Amino acid sequence: MLATRFALFMAIMAVVPSLGYASDPDPLQDFCVAVDDSKAAVFVNGKICKNPKNVTADDFFFSGLNRAGNISSPVGSRVTQVFVNQMPGLNTQGISLVRIDYASNGLNPPHVHPRASEILFVQQGTLYVGFITSNPQNPNRRNTLFAKILHPGDVFVFPRGLIHFQYNVGKANAVAFASLNSQNPGVVTLANAVFGSEPPVYPDVLAKAFQVDKKIIDHLQSLPWMQN
Ligand SMILES: *[C@@H]1O[C@H](CO)[C@@H](O)[C@H](O)[C@H]1NC(C)=O
Ligand SMILES: *[C@@H]1O[C@H](CO)[C@@H](O)[C@H](O)[C@H]1NC(C)=O
Repeated sequence: MLATRFALFMAIMAVVPSLGYASDPDPLQDFCVAVDDSKAAVFVNGKICKNPKNVTADDFFFSGLNRAGNISSPVGSRVTQVFVNQMPGLNTQGISLVRIDYASNGLNPPHVHPRASEILFVQQGTLYVGFITSNPQNPNRRNTLFAKILHPGDVFVFPRGLIHFQYNVGKANAVAFASLNSQNPGVVTLANAVFGSEPPVYPDVLAKAFQVDKKIIDHLQSLPWMQN
C-alpha cells in the first residue's frame, strides 16, 4: 500500500514540473547540429542530430547580416532570419536572431510568434512598435495596446504569442535586430494567414468576423498575399 502510494507520488512529481515548461527544451548535450532532414518523416521536437564527428565550425556560423534585406515588398520591410534552418547548430539551443530592414513608412506587419518571445534592438531609424494583449477577462474591456516610439539604441520586448508590429515612422531606412527564444519561433502574419490562405477561408466567415461587407473580403482575398 505504502509502496503504491509512493509510486503514485513519484509519478505525480514526475509530471508536475513538466506542466510548468512550455519553452524549447534545454539541450541534453553540448550540441545537436541539425542534419539534412529530407529523408526523415517525423520530428517531435527540432531535428535529428548530425554525427558529432562530422560537425564543423560552419554549423555554428552564419554570414551576411551586415547586408540590408530587399525592402521592395508591398509592406516595405524585409526580415532576414537566422533560425535553425539557416544555422543548423541552433538545433536544441532555444535561441535565434533576425535582421529587419524597413523602408521609410515600411511596416513589419502585425504577426505573432507562436513559440517565442522577442527582444528587439534598434540600430538605425525611428520605429513605432507595439504589441496587443490577449482578450481581457472582463467583457467590457478591450484588448490593450502597448506601443512606443523607438530610436537607435532602444530595446523593446514582445511577449510570446502576442500580436506585434514595427513601423518605420522616419524619413530614412531603419534597421533593427531581434533575438527570439526559440530555434524555430514560427511566424503567423495575420493578414496573410487570414486573407491569403490556400484554400481561402469561406468569405462569409471573415465578413462576419470582421463585421464588414463580403465585397471587402472578396477584395482582400484577391490580393497577392506573399510571405515576406
Ligand atoms: C560524415 O561525413 C562523411 C564524409 O563527408 C560521410 O561520408 C558520412 O556519411 C558522414 N556521416 C554522417 C553520419 O553524416
Ligand atoms: C527585390 O525584390 C523585388 C520584388 O520581389 C525584385 O523585383 C528585385 O529584383 C529584388 N532586388 C534584389 C536586389 O534582389
